[in-house]
Amino acid sequence: MTVQEIKNRFRIIGNSSLLDRAIDIARQVAATDLSVLITGESGTGKEVFPQIIHQSSARKHNHYIAVNCGAIPEGTIDSELFGHEKGAFTGAHDTRKGYFEVADGGTIFLDEVGELPLTTQVRLLRVLETGEYIRVGSSKVMKTNVRIVAATNVNMVQLMEKGRFREDLYYRLNTVPLIVPPLRERKEDIPLLFRRFASDFADKYHMPPIKLTHDAEQMLINYYWKGNIRQLKNVTEQISVIEKNREIDIKTIATYLPDNSIGTLPALFRPSGTADNIPNELSEKELLYKVLFELRKDMIDLKSIVYGLLEKGESNTPISGGGTRILHKLDTDIHKAETAMQLHPTNHIDLKDAEIGQTLDEREREIIRLTVEKHHGNKKAAAKELGISERTLFRKVKEE
Ligand SMILES: Nc1ncnc2c1ncn2[C@@H]1O[C@H](COP(=O)(O)OP(=O)(O)O)[C@@H](O)[C@H]1O
Ligand SMILES: [Mg+2]
Repeated sequence: MTVQEIKNRFRIIGNSSLLDRAIDIARQVAATDLSVLITGESGTGKEVFPQIIHQSSARKHNHYIAVNCGAIPEGTIDSELFGHEKGAFTGAHDTRKGYFEVADGGTIFLDEVGELPLTTQVRLLRVLETGEYIRVGSSKVMKTNVRIVAATNVNMVQLMEKGRFREDLYYRLNTVPLIVPPLRERKEDIPLLFRRFASDFADKYHMPPIKLTHDAEQMLINYYWKGNIRQLKNVTEQISVIEKNREIDIKTIATYLPDNSIGTLPALFRPSGTADNIPNELSEKELLYKVLFELRKDMIDLKSIVYGLLEKGESNTPISGGGTRILHKLDTDIHKAETAMQLHPTNHIDLKDAEIGQTLDEREREIIRLTVEKHHGNKKAAAKELGISERTLFRKVKEE
């Protein structure tokens, strides 16, 4: 199949060279048994690539199984992948075949592979290297011949640095890297995708398709699209359903495109009247993480203001006097909330937001260190920029 035939068959819209390149890699690698790691932000359209690979390979008459590693509870994932023996654990009333047994001769798509528990990573590495695995609760070595395509929207290098992903497995999976570009890097495809979605939703809701004025289209093209194609599709659907006037101007479109900092907050925190544009895979918990993250940043700012006032000897002003007490309470509250959330950490969190795992002190020290570095070790200048006295800065540097 040519790249164009693949696009037609899999209903892939777009003509950007980055997209063509990704499809071409999928096409070429299909004939081999090499493992492929698909990397791309959430909503970029990763899920079609393992299907292209499977359907264009000699394995196409055997099973294709897609596994969302982030959605299976840690306790059952080994048994789902590798099967279990009767009585292997409470509730294992029967022997069960795992995906690696069922998909023998076929392809397994491991979506959100970064979420795999470390113990499962060990089993996966073994089956990739030798084709051997054992069912949970068994000691008998089994053989299988499965092609693995994996996908991730997190930075795997950071995961490895944090010890959450095995390096050997990463290199084994990443034999062929395939990168799916974010929508903002394929701007020329935005009007094409919009028209397709507008026409699909017109059919679905029995209304004429929405159209954009020139300005509105420019706005769509230059938007950041944090949620990529999924977000564009959602926005198009919302407008298709809601707007009576089918010609959409820039003022109307703007109400559906939140600025990205606002768009990441839950409804509670958004100005009323804005559309609900949160990418639908964002869980409540992720949103809470983001709110906490923002709170923590605000608190660091506040802290430097209040302590700055204290340092200047303005400790009797209502701001600084009450300020420290409020800050202390804020600090404790945020800490409590974080502790509570980390008891049940979400696996879907963006690594950027994982800085949340740091304590406030750690973050503060890091900010101080970076500022001092920026001023080439000049502590006076650093203190000025941070809005704290040199004395405070010296004290904090000593605490390290
Ligand atoms: N090139 C494309 N043309 C049309 N629709 C697409 C394209 N790429 C993705 N989509 C649609 O965008 C949505 C998100 O795609 P998906 O593969 O689930 O993203 P990811 O797995 O990368 O988060 C799906 O509804 C999919 O059908
Ligand atoms: Mg996906």
